[in-house]
Amino acid sequence: MGVKVPHEQRKASPRKYLMCRPTYFDVTYSINPWMDPERPTSMETGLSQWKWLFDTYAGLGHDVRLIEPVPGLPDMVFAANGALVVDGKVLVARFRHPQRRDESAAYLEWFGRGGWSEVRQAEYLNEGEGDLLFTGTEILAGTGFRTEARAHDEVREFFGRPVTGLTLVDPRFYHLDTALAVLGDGEIMYYPAAFSPESRAVLAERYPDAVLAEEADAAVFGLNALSDGRTVVLPRAATGLAARLRERGYDPVGADLAELLKAGGSVKCCTLELRE
Ligand code: ARG
Repeated sequence: MGVKVPHEQRKASPRKYLMCRPTYFDVTYSINPWMDPERPTSMETGLSQWKWLFDTYAGLGHDVRLIEPVPGLPDMVFAANGALVVDGKVLVARFRHPQRRDESAAYLEWFGRGGWSEVRQAEYLNEGEGDLLFTGTEILAGTGFRTEARAHDEVREFFGRPVTGLTLVDPRFYHLDTALAVLGDGEIMYYPAAFSPESRAVLAERYPDAVLAEEADAAVFGLNALSDGRTVVLPRAATGLAARLRERGYDPVGADLAELLKAGGSVKCCTLELRE
């Protein structure tokens, strides 16, 4: 099982990611408990932190594409929310909050330029990879705050992949990707208290070897991490999780995205994986 795989056996696979430069980043409204519009933000700091992430992925050999930011859409830097892309099929998000609804058009336009076998917008509320995480075999699908439960059936039908629904209960962890991350080889890490008792039981049964995060690591968004199968980029403050990952043969790399955290997002939120 996934427990102590030696480091040399952890294999990174080259990935394609979509990111969005935080040109218009700001916190002008509050749609999650992290967002306080009274607190000043710095676009320059946000941009340099985001740039570090972009350069880190490129340095790891991943192919990073960019979608143009749109003025008036300050959360567009969180590209993970734009869609779910699996097997070359693209299901573009339908955002819960009106403040983010216009982002969908930008993603429809970007994916509409070609290269994808099917592109359409979700009919039900669905915040893309914020709530939908592909493990390589199944799609783990969050609900409770943003994506609605009936969207999970739509995802199952559209992708023809198994979907496991999980209910989030702590408003700090309003998207699945703030409470759970896929590491690779059917291995995940998550913060149990972010889930309903039923969902916790499902996770414990299906992923008995998962890395379980402590509150302190979850609270600094340590689970908003991105793995390529070997390197795991995660918020630098999540030192406990980094140590657990190292024990399991992964290479944790600490990111400082403090500016973007003011909007309730970090590493994974900034990154949409493009799976052909
Ligand atoms: N302010 C954004 C929102 O509340 C943050 C989105 C973070 N993205 C993510 N994938 N969790 O929608």
